[in-house]
Amino acid sequence: MKNNKFLTMAFESSCDETAIAILADGREVLSNVISSQIDIFKNYGGVVPEIAARHHLENINEVVDEALKKADVTMEDIDLIAVTEGPGLVGALLIGVATAKAVAFACDKPIIGVHHIMGHVAANYIEFPQLEPPFTALIASGGHTNIAEVKNYTEVEIIGGTRDDAIGEAYDKVARVLGLGYPGGPKIDKIAKEGNPDAIHFKRVFLEKDSMDFSFSGLKTAVLNHLNIAKQKGEEINRADVAASFQQAVMDVVTEKAVQAAKEMGHGKLVLAGGVASNSALRAILKKKCDEEQIKLYVPSPILCTDNGAMIGCAGYYKYKEGQRSGLDMDAHANMPLSKAK
Ligand SMILES: Nc1ncnc2c1ncn2[C@@H]1O[C@H](COP(=O)(O)OP(=O)(O)OP(=O)(O)O)[C@@H](O)[C@H]1O
Ligand SMILES: [Mg+2]
Repeated sequence: MKNNKFLTMAFESSCDETAIAILADGREVLSNVISSQIDIFKNYGGVVPEIAARHHLENINEVVDEALKKADVTMEDIDLIAVTEGPGLVGALLIGVATAKAVAFACDKPIIGVHHIMGHVAANYIEFPQLEPPFTALIASGGHTNIAEVKNYTEVEIIGGTRDDAIGEAYDKVARVLGLGYPGGPKIDKIAKEGNPDAIHFKRVFLEKDSMDFSFSGLKTAVLNHLNIAKQKGEEINRADVAASFQQAVMDVVTEKAVQAAKEMGHGKLVLAGGVASNSALRAILKKKCDEEQIKLYVPSPILCTDNGAMIGCAGYYKYKEGQRSGLDMDAHANMPLSKAK
């Protein structure tokens, strides 16, 4: 406790970011240090789990020190340790969980495990101090694509999800076949701005009537087929047109379903969460559609959309305030269904 404020120190290491944050009273960010391994994995075209875990191990102590220094606090001031316990790469998660447990034990602090996606949702509480549940959420990240009803700070009900690839995964795969490199999402977003979204018609997959589920693997295959056919015919490929047409096909479906879900739930609020929430087309299309339907759209700043410690600290703070506690027997979980997140 510092200046009568409740301080949470949060650890996030589920993929390729070693991230530690310190928050005051759950929503005020005192520090949010992110050590990204993106530059390392550019050379591999994607994250190599074993290498990610090793880098977390090498970096984490330094990131802890930097987070404390930037927040201008000491471990004595910290009231709660929060940590991502899953889902993610198990070796990567383990480094965060083991370090958080060691710190909690050594400094005699309570510890709380957090579902990574509850963290992505909570990024919005940091960005928008007045935002309160309930609301509709569109979760769009590297491993998840869901429409959910966020009922309160610790409970979500999943309304729909992807039956195959997550949006971020589809972006990364399409970027790879277009030779754009890793991570593909931001690269497609950028190059698509120079392309014509109507140049190639890729099929929009809405699935059954009223379904809030998604499927992106067919679209990914359609892009691949388009590129292969063009190659066989010796035609030149306009990468910007392919990227723009792919992106439009994704967004037509995703934004329609998300807005429909928000209308049906009737909370008047649609919240974006996850790395893909920083996509400029998604933001622009949803803004227009939400304005038309008088739904208030919430989108975090890009730095809070992708993996960071602050979002985990915020989600952990609300779990703790609700009376939940984890023990030093906490484990890392590669798979953790969002429907069971608490
Ligand atoms: N501007 C963008 N447009 C589209 N996709 C983007 C953009 N920025 C980031 N992404 C995508 O977001 C994903 C990274 O987001 P995030 O860090 O939330 O995923 P993750 O942590 O790997 O997965 P999860 O959160 O599901 O465990 C990547 O797939 C990346 O390509
Ligand atoms: Mg994530």
